[in-house]
Amino acid sequence: MALTKQDKLRLDCFLTKIKKDADGFLGYPSAKDFDFSIFNDYLRFPFNNIGDPFIDGSYKVSSKEFEREVLEEMATLLRAPEDDWWGYITNGGTEGNLYSLYLARELNPNAIVYFSQASHYSVTKNLHFLNMRHIMIRAQDNGEMDYDDLAETLGIHRDVPATIFANIGTTMTEAKDDITKIQSILDGFTIVNRYIHCDAALSGTIAPFLTPRPAFDFADGADSIAISGHKFIGSPIPCGIVLAKKHAVDRIAQSIAYIGTLDTTVSGSRNGLTPLYL
Ligand SMILES: Cc1ncc(COP(=O)(O)O)c(C=O)c1O
Repeated sequence: MALTKQDKLRLDCFLTKIKKDADGFLGYPSAKDFDFSIFNDYLRFPFNNIGDPFIDGSYKVSSKEFEREVLEEMATLLRAPEDDWWGYITNGGTEGNLYSLYLARELNPNAIVYFSQASHYSVTKNLHFLNMRHIMIRAQDNGEMDYDDLAETLGIHRDVPATIFANIGTTMTEAKDDITKIQSILDGFTIVNRYIHCDAALSGTIAPFLTPRPAFDFADGADSIAISGHKFIGSPIPCGIVLAKKHAVDRIAQSIAYIGTLDTTVSGSRNGLTPLYL
């Protein structure tokens, strides 16, 4: 594409500004030390991973084979049940959380969602989108959920299914809610209709390597986990990963003839470059 002299000058100035901004940029958990220029040639193609990542479908310019590889790796890392997991690469943590709450709502439409006051600002927005009944639980000074407040609140609503929205790395203090403790509180009230979602947008890619390992993954009792890809892994385009139980996803799947695959994701058209970066 030929640029006018003026446009070229404008883009050159913008590049200089962005380089300076990126160099001096601190405070957000966004990795900057990457170089994905190896993928520059791929910018010439109309990538679209439309629909379900596990069914190639009729849109052929896709990177679903790499998307599946990323998901398989994450499923292993997060100890997902071998024959009952599913996932996709999202546009970020917020979408993964929205998707997971949607699955939770379809499983238990009347559940109350419990989330701590240290949760990310997008959580109340997502709950509003989904029109889900919810109660905010106090947070401790370190940002972790106040389990006494959770127990007291669950005790009052022990006749209602519970959806727990746990933080695995809060935005401000990286606090991690302990889903083992949360499950023993639910057990204490014999609340069997339950769904546990872990918002691991911040810490999901590092938590599996911590000692002691925080209680947050599928083997610990999570039903779904959302992670941001652009935070600790790093990517020039915001992205994320959501993993959930396959039986929950099967409930919302719709077969769409013209894309030749299932509609199982929030957006139809999906990014085909971010799977390569991840
Ligand atoms: C705990 C937590 N949840 C969710 C999000 C939203 O993630 P994203 O910006 O990838 O949509 C963030 C982002 O900072 C976060 O820290």
